[in-house]
Parts: sequence; C-alpha cells; structure tokens
Amino acid sequence: MKSFLELAEARYSCKKFSDRAISDEDLNYVLEAGRLAPTAKNLQPQHIYVMRSAEALEQIDKLTPCRYGAPVVAVIAYDRDNVFTFPGGRATSGAEDVSIVATHMMLAAADRGLNSCWLNFFDPDKAAAELDLPDNETVVLLLDLGYAAEGAAPLANHTNRKALSETVTWR
Ligand SMILES: Cc1cc2nc3c(=O)[nH]c(=O)nc-3n(C[C@H](O)[C@H](O)[C@H](O)COP(=O)(O)O)c2cc1C
Repeated sequence: MKSFLELAEARYSCKKFSDRAISDEDLNYVLEAGRLAPTAKNLQPQHIYVMRSAEALEQIDKLTPCRYGAPVVAVIAYDRDNVFTFPGGRATSGAEDVSIVATHMMLAAADRGLNSCWLNFFDPDKAAAELDLPDNETVVLLLDLGYAAEGAAPLANHTNRKALSETVTWR
C-alpha cells in the first residue's frame, strides 16, 4: 500500500485514456471520497454530474478539447445560494469547497488505480447552458476519469515542483 506522499507523487494528469469502463464500485469509491471532504460551515454546496453516457460525453466534447478519451467526466459545480460569504462580502467559499471535494476525488481515483485530469479549459457559462444546470449552480471544474491508454505517461513538467524554500516562509 502506498503512503499518502507516494500516492500524491504517483498521480499525474493523464492526457490519453483507454476506453476501459470504470466499474460502479470504483466510481462510488471516488464519489464517497468527495462526500467526506470538508466544506466551509459544512454547507456541502457541491453538485457532481457524472457524465458517462454517449450523449453526456458528447456534451463534454462540445465544452472542452481536454476529455482525452476519458470514459467518465465529473462535472463539479456548487450551489451559489448555499455558500459561506467571507467577511467583507467580496468572495464566497464555493470554488474552495468544490476544489477540496475534487481533490479528494482525484486522489481517491489514484488510490483505486484510476487516472484523472482536472480541467478548467471550458467556459462555465456555456457549460451551465449546455448541461441545462439550475440557475444557482456554477461549474468550477471538470474531472476526467478513466484508465491511462497504453503509452500514456506524465508530461515532463510533472516532476517540476518548486522547492519548499520558494513557497514556504517560516516565521
Ligand atoms: C486548476 C487546474 C486546471 C487544469 N486545467 C487543465 C486543462 O484544462 N487541461 C489540461 O489538459 N490539464 C489541465 N490541468 C492539469 C495541469 O496542467 C497539470 O496538473 C500540471 O501541469 C501538473 O502536471 P501533473 O498533474 O501531471 O503533475 C489543470 C490542473 C489544475 C490543478
């Protein structure tokens, strides 16, 4: 069993998926990991659309060129009417909340031997229209899920992370 750091290191953004389907058991494992994520004030504003029918994947392909053949794409949105508003009123927790949910899902997928790619290369307004979402929902990201195709590998920049000395200040 991989340690958490080994899992975090092994995960990479997959840009070439095989057509192997994901079992419902594995999908539910990934979704459960998202369900367990913390959210501001425990409001749980996330709404996750599991896109896996041919029609649904066709809709995704209209929104982004970055499905890379994934058999499942999770559209991760939040309810704007159910978020924490920061003091000062300029920002809400919606994007933070769903990012934590999605990160749990992405790492749970890796834990289950699945590959993934987090996408923000899409227009959220077009996504809401194409998917006919309720007026109060904003899509933050799309998460490709599936199994890497033969020959798929991390991009060269996968191991290119700044040293802690560049991103951490000890005080
Ligand atoms: C917020 C976010 C948005 C991203 N959007 C896209 C995207 O739209 N298309 C894509 O191919 N990869 C996307 N990626 C993948 C990143 O390019 C990738 O995580 C980064 O280059 C590091 O590579 P690694 O995940 O293999 O370590 C995104 C990743 C994050 C975290």
